[in-house]
Formats: sequence, C-alpha cells, structure tokens
Amino acid sequence: MTDFTVTPYDVRGTIDYEKLLEQFGADRLTDEQINRFPNPVHPLLRRRQFYAHRDIDRFCDAIEAKTPHSIVTGRGPSGAMHLGHIIPLYFAKYVQEQTNARVYIPFSDDEKFLVKDRTLETIGEQTRDNLEELLAVGFDPERTRIIIDTHDADVIYPLAVAFGDAITQSTFNGTYGEPENIGHSFYPAVQTTHLLLPQLIHGVHPTLVPIGIDQDPHVRVSRDVASKRRFPVEKPAALLSKFLPRLDGPGKMSASGDAHATITLNDDRESIATKIHTHAVTGGQASKAAHRKHGGDPTVDVPFGLLQAMFEPDDERLAQIERDYRDGKLLSGELKSIAIDAINEFLTAHQKRKTQLGPLETELARYRLTDEERTTARQRVGHNELKSMN
Ligand code: TYM
Repeated sequence: MTDFTVTPYDVRGTIDYEKLLEQFGADRLTDEQINRFPNPVHPLLRRRQFYAHRDIDRFCDAIEAKTPHSIVTGRGPSGAMHLGHIIPLYFAKYVQEQTNARVYIPFSDDEKFLVKDRTLETIGEQTRDNLEELLAVGFDPERTRIIIDTHDADVIYPLAVAFGDAITQSTFNGTYGEPENIGHSFYPAVQTTHLLLPQLIHGVHPTLVPIGIDQDPHVRVSRDVASKRRFPVEKPAALLSKFLPRLDGPGKMSASGDAHATITLNDDRESIATKIHTHAVTGGQASKAAHRKHGGDPTVDVPFGLLQAMFEPDDERLAQIERDYRDGKLLSGELKSIAIDAINEFLTAHQKRKTQLGPLETELARYRLTDEERTTARQRVGHNELKSMN
C-alpha cells in the first residue's frame, strides 16, 4: 500500500516518484537516453524534471536517423493554464525546432466537461482562453496540428469508436477508478485516438508523448490498444515528468487548486512576487543569523525547484545559486527574488507573443487538420467515405 494516489483524475499525498514507477511499470531515464536528444539537451530533461519513460529508444533512433517522428501532448481546458501545463508544451516546441518533429496537440474539452462541475459554456470559454496560451508558445503551423474534441468530432468520433471496443469497463476501473458517468467511461478511447492520430494520418512511425506522470494511465491504455494490432500503428512512447509543486506545499500545482498557490500564465510581475513572497515554501532557516550559519536546503525550496525545473536554464548560474544558498550567503528572500525575476522574464515573453496574435479563428485555421488528413485517418481504421449524401 502507498500513501499517495496518482491518476489523471486524482493526485493526492506526498508522491514517491520511484515507487510510482514500480506501480506504473515505467522506466527511469538513463543518461545515455537523455544524451540522445539534440544538443544542447533541454533543461527539463538534463535536470530530470522529465525523469521516466516508456519505450523511448525507437523515438531517439528516429531523431538520429532523421526519419519521421511525432509528438503528441495535450490540454484539458478546465481553467486558466499554469506553469505546470507549459512543461510538455515548451518541451515539444523545443524538439520541433531541433528535429522538425510533427506536433499534435489535442484539447479534451469533452473530458473536462464530463469530469468537472462546469457548464459547456464555461468549458467553451476556457477552451478559447487556453488555445490562445497554446498559440503563444509559437509552434510551426506547417508541422503542428491542434485538435479540439467537440469541434473535430468528424475525425475523433469514428476513430474513438474503432478503438472503444478494445477497452473494457474493467480496464477502465482498474486503470482510473470508478467513472463519473458513462461519458467518462468512453473518454479513454478518445485520448487513445489522440495518441495514435499522427500514425493514422502519416503511417506507422515513432510517436512520443511528453506529459506529467498523472497522464501515464492513458498512455498505457493506448499502448494496449496498439498492441492488439488491429490497426496500422506502433505503441506510442512516453516521457514522464514530475509535477511542479504548489507554492505552499508538496502537492501538485493545479488549475482547480487555490489560486494563491498557483502561478498562471497571465500573472504579472506583481502577482508573481506576491504569491511567491507570501506563500512559497523555502528551505531557509528560522532566523537570518541561523541561515548565515547553517545555510539553506535547496532540495525542499520551492523557488529553487522552479529555477531548477526550467526557469534558470544556465547550469553554471544555477549551481552558483545552489552553492550560495547552501553556504548561507544567499537568503531565502533573495532566492525568491531571483525566481520571481526568472519566471517574470519567461512569462513576459510568453504574454508578449500572446498580444501579437491575430483573431483566434484566423490563427487556429493554420493548425487545423486538412480534409485529406481527416479522410486518411478515418479510412485507416476502416471507415468508408460516403460518396455522396444525395
Ligand atoms: P491537463 O490539462 O490536466 O494537463 C496538461 C498537461 O500538463 C501536465 N501537468 C503538469 N505537469 C507538471 N506539473 C504540474 N503541476 C502539472 N499539472 C498538469 C499534465 O500532466 C498534462 O501533461 N487529458 C489531458 C489532456 C490531453 C492530453 C492528450 C495530454 C488530452 N489528450 C494527449 C497529452 C496527450 C489533461 O487533462 O491534461
């Protein structure tokens, strides 16, 4: 028995990330695997924020051989996006810039309606808001597709039906727990569709799914469907990240959690500073004198953890900050200020790109699936197109 829970719908307790790997049956990333990513390796990988994987070698082979490879990573639009959500997105953008990977980004508005207490109207508003955040990341429209489940139902639904009969209710219950309703029971067939979609459009090829480890159960289900070999696909690989914590404790930073413990992508400098100064857990000592004497503990310090995850990309600067903190030269308040500056710099650039976007419909049009892509995907799972509706 463990005293923590991690599923796509419930993250609780203090997570033991090693035990979680045993529980899920995923593997720790090796140095060798990390170094197979293009140089310079992204901080999220070399600092082990992404710490585990499933079957990543074939994806790395494809990077090296310059053969087709895709990334799928998505968002369930249930509220304002926060720093945790951008981990897979900025990582995907980075890989796309380095290797010309195709990137598919599904939006599970259906899932969030089914599992959260929100109206369809609210989910629709969140979808528009979150799409703008996504577009601000700056993916290459030629190589990127954005899919919204209820808007792209012409392709998502026939595929999800094709996969739905390969997933039993007992698989659902064993993987996710009790469903909220029958719509929820069907949803894993939809996320399986997301993960297999690049292969159904472009033919069999390695696909990588970079996600927070809470999403791994969906990868397991999709790999199980792929292994039944009824469709022309190989199992998707996964890159699994630890969570960015809540500012005030070890739990996961979460869109539905308390606003004071979460930095959202639209926070300005002042609110970032207020949240961090007032709420962030530190590894500092109780008094300035004790801190100077004994030093701080960066391993439990949330501002340091944020810098380490990705917001201070320079390894030497990060190492210097760590030394100074351990030695007591750097106080917790000063470390907080460094983190505030770094996060603010990152978010200011993100927010600037957001203000430069045109109208949402126009921007999005460049990323929608083409008619040909939709037809190909439907045909690959065995749907015949209607020649004429008359
Ligand atoms: P969602 O919207 O809950 O989360 C989007 C992504 O952000 C990750 N994440 C975090 N990572 C680090 N620290 C955190 N505190 C944190 N909080 C969230 C999640 O693990 C996820 O990778 N069902 C999905 C959306 C989805 C999807 C997909 C994701 C639909 N299709 C295909 C990947 C691939 C969801 O609700 O994610």
